[in-house]
Amino acid sequence: MLKEKHQEDREFDFTANDFARVRKLIYQHAGISLSEAKTDMVYSRVGRRLRSVGYSSFKEYLDNLENESNPDEWEAFTNALTTNLTSFFREEHHFPILAEHLLSLKKPIRIWCSAASTGEEPYTIAMTACEAFGTMKPPIEIIATDIDTNVLATAARGVYPYERVSKLSEKRRKDFFQKGTGAQEGSVRVRNELRSLIHFQPLNLLEPQWALKEPFDVIFCRNVMIYFDKPTQSKILSRFVSLMKPHALLFAGHSENFLYVSNDYNLRGKTVYELNDGENAKRGTSLLRGVIA
Ligand SMILES: C[S@@+](CC[C@H](N)C(=O)[O-])C[C@H]1O[C@@H](n2cnc3c(N)ncnc32)[C@H](O)[C@@H]1O
Repeated sequence: MLKEKHQEDREFDFTANDFARVRKLIYQHAGISLSEAKTDMVYSRVGRRLRSVGYSSFKEYLDNLENESNPDEWEAFTNALTTNLTSFFREEHHFPILAEHLLSLKKPIRIWCSAASTGEEPYTIAMTACEAFGTMKPPIEIIATDIDTNVLATAARGVYPYERVSKLSEKRRKDFFQKGTGAQEGSVRVRNELRSLIHFQPLNLLEPQWALKEPFDVIFCRNVMIYFDKPTQSKILSRFVSLMKPHALLFAGHSENFLYVSNDYNLRGKTVYELNDGENAKRGTSLLRGVIA
């Protein structure tokens, strides 16, 4: 059907079977579940890869991807299929809760931003910490990860078009960004002090091992679980448990309800979770929860 509907307009041969293969590969590799509605999106984004690598059909490209061990192409294929929408202070109601939580913790504070995209979210966390502690050197360390290496490079660069920060208060723009001049006119750059609070590293939430050592006081996992099916969400949530300190908070996206997929958490506020008593009791640490009660 796919072929009959659009094929005549298309530069590359793209059959229903090709779409099914892309779907299976990205699901197995990154956990991303693509619905039929994403057919055109897949054609256009993966088609761009075919053009730049020089393939003439999806079949040829996918055969190669599956049969050759080519980590670079896997990375490019994955990068092509992620959705990276984000913004500074997205879902703003989370940040006063974060600020209060940070002030209640023992230092140094460790935060994991697990789907950092182009960086607006980890920089927002860093700004919140600076404001809460009243210094550009708050006692925090943020690990910002994402599967998509392109967006992480943008995040690490910390340079954005001015429109991305135009809704922030003038004070925040002044405190945390430098305006570009000359060739950089129209962009802003995150101040070095803010950038130095964040360590960027690629991480696939589906990988069996995460290169993260010590546990965290805060985990941000917002607007990424929506791309995963329930069994995948449930597995990731149970792996978070051992990475959370007893009092830690887990922040989710606006349409993500973790109570349906895990028994390990209680709702602490709107889309903010904490480990439930059972989980903490198992770890013999329930008393520590009084710190933020
Ligand atoms: C819509 S963005 C959300 C960004 C940010 N958390 C926010 O709420 O504004 C989703 C991000 O999840 C990342 N992602 C998708 N699958 C992933 C996986 N398996 N492991 C890690 N990150 C993944 C994408 O690359 C993308 O940057």
